[in-house]
Amino acid sequence: MSVIEVNNLSKIYRSPLARKEKCAVDNISFSVEQGQIFGFLGPNGSGKTTTIGMLLDIINRTSGEIRLFGDTNLNAARKRIGATLETPNFYPYLSGYDNLRIVAKIKGIGEARVQEILGIVKLADRQKDAFKTYSLGMKQRLALASAMLSDPDIIILDEPANGLDPEGIREIREIIKGLGKQGKTVFLSSHLLDEVEQTCTHVAVIKNGKLVKQGSVQELTSRNIARLEADDTDFLRTVIRGYSGALSAEVRDGAVYVALSEGNLSELNRHLASQGVYVSHLSEARQSLEEVFIELTS
Ligand SMILES: Nc1ncnc2c1ncn2[C@@H]1O[C@H](COP(=O)(O)OP(=O)(O)OP(=O)(O)O)[C@@H](O)[C@H]1O
Ligand SMILES: [Mg+2]
Repeated sequence: MSVIEVNNLSKIYRSPLARKEKCAVDNISFSVEQGQIFGFLGPNGSGKTTTIGMLLDIINRTSGEIRLFGDTNLNAARKRIGATLETPNFYPYLSGYDNLRIVAKIKGIGEARVQEILGIVKLADRQKDAFKTYSLGMKQRLALASAMLSDPDIIILDEPANGLDPEGIREIREIIKGLGKQGKTVFLSSHLLDEVEQTCTHVAVIKNGKLVKQGSVQELTSRNIARLEADDTDFLRTVIRGYSGALSAEVRDGAVYVALSEGNLSELNRHLASQGVYVSHLSEARQSLEEVFIELTS
C-alpha cells in the first residue's frame, strides 16, 4: 500500500512586493510504499524542504494532490506521522529529558516511552544535561527521538545527518535502519549519497524542482555496466566503440568501463573475440549512487 502518494505537486513562492515568482517544486509525482526507506535526493535549493513542508502541511501547495495513508485529509494523517524539519527547536537550558517530556505531554505520551526512546537514540546517559551542551550529533538524535516519540507509522526527516561526522552519521543510520526493521516508513531528504545508498531502499532525485528519477536503489545502481581488462586498453576501447550495443566506453584505472544498451556480457565477449580481442578480465560493474546522481543532476 502507498502510504505517501504525491500527484502533480507544485509550489510557486510569490513575493508580491518584489513581483517575483519562484517555482520551487514543479509538477512532481511519486509514491512511497509502506516499509520503504525512501531517500529524497537533490542539490541545494532543488526543492526538498519545500516538498517536505507540503507533505507536513506546513507549506501551502500551489497545486497538486497529496495522499497520506490513501487519504487527502492531511490533518487526519498527522497523528500517524513524526517529523523533523531542518534545525530542531528545543529549549536550550532544559535537559534533553525535559525537552522530550514537554513534547510527550502535548501528545499525551507517558513517561515510560520517553525513557524508552532516550535509550533507542543512545541519549540515556546524557538525558539530564542541558540541550545547549549537546554535540550536534546528540541534538540531531534528540530531534529524531522527538519525531519517533509517538511511535508513528511514517517518519519524515529533513537532512537528518546534515553536518555530522562519520560516527554521528553512523549512529543516525543505525536508528533509521532500526525503524525500517520495525516496518515503519521513513522518508528522508539528503545530499549524502553514500549514506543514502547504505540506508535507503528507494530514492527519488529532484533537480530544479523537477523529479528526474525514481526507483529502488538496486535498480538505479545496477545499470548494465561491464568492466573489461586487456593488454591493449586503447585498442580494446576502439573495438568496443564499434559495437552497436555499447552506449559508451571509458578508460579508468587501467580498465575499460562499458555502458551496455542491450545484450549481455557473453555477447559483448563474442563480439570482441570476433574482432581478435581477448580480454583478461570481464565482469559486471555497479555504478555508485553518487555516480548516478552526478550523471542525473550535472
Ligand atoms: N519562503 C520562500 N520564499 C521564496 N523562495 C523560497 C522560499 N523557500 C524556499 N525558496 C526557494 O525555493 C527553492 C527550493 O528551496 P528548498 O529549501 O525547498 O530547497 P532544498 O532542496 O531543501 O535545499 P537545501 O539542500 O539547501 O536544503 C530555492 O530556490 C529557495 O531559494
Ligand atoms: Mg532543505
